[in-house]
Parts: sequence; C-alpha cells; structure tokens
Amino acid sequence: MAKRATFVTKLGVIAATVGSSVGLGNIWRFPYETGQNGGAAFLLVYILCVLFLGLPVMLAEFVVGRSAKANVNRSFLTLAPGTHWNIIGYMGVFAPVFIMGFYSVIAGWTLDYVYQAATFGMSQKSPEYFATAFTEFTASPIRPLFWIFLFLGMNYFIVSRGVSDGIERASNILMPLLFVILIAFCVRSLFLPGAKEGLSFLFHPDFSKIDSGVVLRAMGQAFFSLSLGMGTLITYASYFSDKTSLPKTAVTVASLDTFVAVLAGVIIFPAVFSFGISPSQGPELIFITLPNVFQQIPGAYIWSVLFFVLITVAALTSTISLCEVAIAFLHEEFHFTRRRASQILIFICLVMSTLCSLSFGPLSDFYILGFSIFNFCDFLASNILLPAGGMLISIFVGWKLDRQFIKEELSNHGVSRVWYFGILMFCMRFVAPVAIFLIFLSGLGLF
Ligand code: PHE
Repeated sequence: MAKRATFVTKLGVIAATVGSSVGLGNIWRFPYETGQNGGAAFLLVYILCVLFLGLPVMLAEFVVGRSAKANVNRSFLTLAPGTHWNIIGYMGVFAPVFIMGFYSVIAGWTLDYVYQAATFGMSQKSPEYFATAFTEFTASPIRPLFWIFLFLGMNYFIVSRGVSDGIERASNILMPLLFVILIAFCVRSLFLPGAKEGLSFLFHPDFSKIDSGVVLRAMGQAFFSLSLGMGTLITYASYFSDKTSLPKTAVTVASLDTFVAVLAGVIIFPAVFSFGISPSQGPELIFITLPNVFQQIPGAYIWSVLFFVLITVAALTSTISLCEVAIAFLHEEFHFTRRRASQILIFICLVMSTLCSLSFGPLSDFYILGFSIFNFCDFLASNILLPAGGMLISIFVGWKLDRQFIKEELSNHGVSRVWYFGILMFCMRFVAPVAIFLIFLSGLGLF
C-alpha cells in the first residue's frame, strides 16, 4: 500500500491545525455572538466551555486520529471493529457540506470587500451608504456567487495538491501573515476614542445576561471555533507524526484560537462604540461596521484592504480543513484520486453555498423550521451536529477505548508525563458528555 500522507514539519502541524481553528468563527462569528449574547458574560461562559468541553474533546479527536491513522470513518472502524461507532464518521463527512454552504458565502462577501477596498470603492462613503450597499449586495443573485465560486476555486487549488504540498505549505505562509495583520489592527483599535467602552463591554461581565440560550450559543461557538465534533481534527491528527505531542498541540491550538477571538473582539468593539453602532448586530456586524471605521481613520485604504485580506486568509485555512475530512474519506474509502475527490466535494459545496447565498435574495421567503437556508445550515452544523459529534467522540474515547491505550497515545509511549490523566478522563467520561447533553436540552427549550 502507498505510504499515507503526513505533515512534514512540527511548524506545519501547528500552522495547519491552528489554521483550521482560527477562521471566520473567530473574526466574524465570535464578535457578533458576543455582541448579541451579553458581551463579557458570554466570553466567560465561552472560556469555560473551551477548558472543560473543548480541550477534552480535542484530545479525544487527536487520540482517535493519530492512533488509527485513517479518515474519520475508517478510524472508528479500526479502533472498534464490528461496531457502529463509525456513524460518528458519517456525521463528520456530512457536517462540512453544511458548514461550507454558509461559510463560503461569508468568505465570498469578504473577497468582494477586498476588491471594493482595493479599487477605492469604499472611500468617501457615508455610513448609510455602507448599510444599503451591503443589503443590496447580499440580496443580489449574481455578484456574491461570482466571489463564492472564486473562493471555492482557491480551495480546490490547495486541497487537490495534497496534504504537505497543499495544506501544509499554504498554512505555513498564511498563518504568520494573519498574526501580523491582527496585531497591527489591535494596536490601531486601542487608540480609537471608544476603546474604553468597547473593552469594558468585552471584559466586564454582567451575570444577569447568562441564561440557557447564552450557554448553548457559547458552547456551539466553542465547538465551531475549535473545529471540533466532526472529525476535522481526527483527520488532521491522522497526519501527525508519532513524535507530535498531542497535549501540547491541543493546548497551543486552543490558546491561540481563544487569543485570536479575544483579539478580534478587541479590534471590533472599540470601533463599534467609537462610531455609535449597536454591538448586537448579527452576521453583518463586520461588513457594515468596519468599512465605516476605516473611512474615519488615517490610512483608510491600506487598513481596509488588509482587514479583508486577513479574513479571507483565515477563512481559507479553515475551509481547506473542512474539505479535507470529506476528501480523505472519498479518497481512501472509494479510491477516487485526490483530484477527483476534491472535484466532487467542491461541486457539492458549490450547490450548497449557492442556495445559502440566494437565501439573502430570491430565496429569502423560503424557510426550513423557521430558519432561512443560510441560518439553518449554520444552526444545524454549529449548534447540533458539532456538539452532538463532540459528545459521541468523548463517550467513545472515554468509555470504549482502553485507558492504557489512551495514556500511551497522550504520553507518546511514556516520553512525556501525563499528570492530569485522571482529570482528563473524568472530563471525557462525565463532564463533556453530560454537560453537552444538558446544555442541548435546555438550549433547545426542552426543560
Ligand atoms: N474553526 C473554524 C472557524 O473558526 C470553522 C471550522 C469548523 C473549521 C469546523 C473546521 C471544522 O472559522
């Protein structure tokens, strides 16, 4: 059998995995979820979810992927032959299609904004202009589709090249770029007049804002942002070498991901408060707020181009990981070439994202269970499929796999000490499954 692909360098492992986690979830979704769900109180619940649910589930995914060294479906079949645990794998192959559906729409909008910013389409415009222009743009049937197709084309270009030449190489270049741009923005934002108010909104919790809905959304956000619950990290971990330290990688990824989300908040909320915009706007928050802000600061041209390039980069390194779950599956299970597998997947994503995009315009009267197509894909994937997948994966590792086997994987066969093993197992066996289940029920209004 041909040798299976791997990430070649240590940096590549981190860049690709952080690349998967850091994405629109941090820069686009986190600020508006925080804005709509009570600011600092949401951030606090979010961090608790990352620590007690996110980290254990991430380690569970790493253990499954690295030990089985196969796609999501095959990983479960290898570790638990003759059982039906691979259903989690199937869920994992479907979830990216829904996520790619709405995610590519936002990424497409971002590309359009890069173009607008670069061609001076944003200079000297009034705040009203940005609000109307955004609504007209997203409702139009054709223009967003052009950008969505371009974005999916970029994905195809990278993923069809394979794991180390495509994904790893792109991440090694794009991720450092992303961090540099982010830090520059953060510094700029702290000098805006509304910085104090913005930071207080983000860091001073009002506990009366926490209810079960807020907790459900914080949990969904944590799973989404850390790329958990659908096998992305199982697939990526299957490309880790035997020397990669799973606990260190998990802690690095979770910390950097949370850091970037907080940075995005630090960039956006001072701007929101400086220009009298409501922090509780939905998905349009960054698309209406920020172009306004850019017009009012020196160097508008360069800031706006940079910002939207930043979001595109972040989105791209995440979508390639979403695609990889399904591509590895199609390639290894059905023996399609990587190229053909990529073509099949990108085609399905094209169809889904076209539907999601049209739900802002011609299909805006079409509802599924009370949601527009776009919101349905987002809600189904982030608040249902990912937490449910996460719950099953942690039950699988906590209850089905042998304790010693897990310990060997986490310690790289005794190379490092896993002093926290007891706590981790407790979280995987009890805390994560029970908490996810309860939050589910209450968030869905069932008790
Ligand atoms: N974590 C990515 C983000 O924050 C999205 C994602 C979710 C990627 C699930 C892979 C799997 O944007």
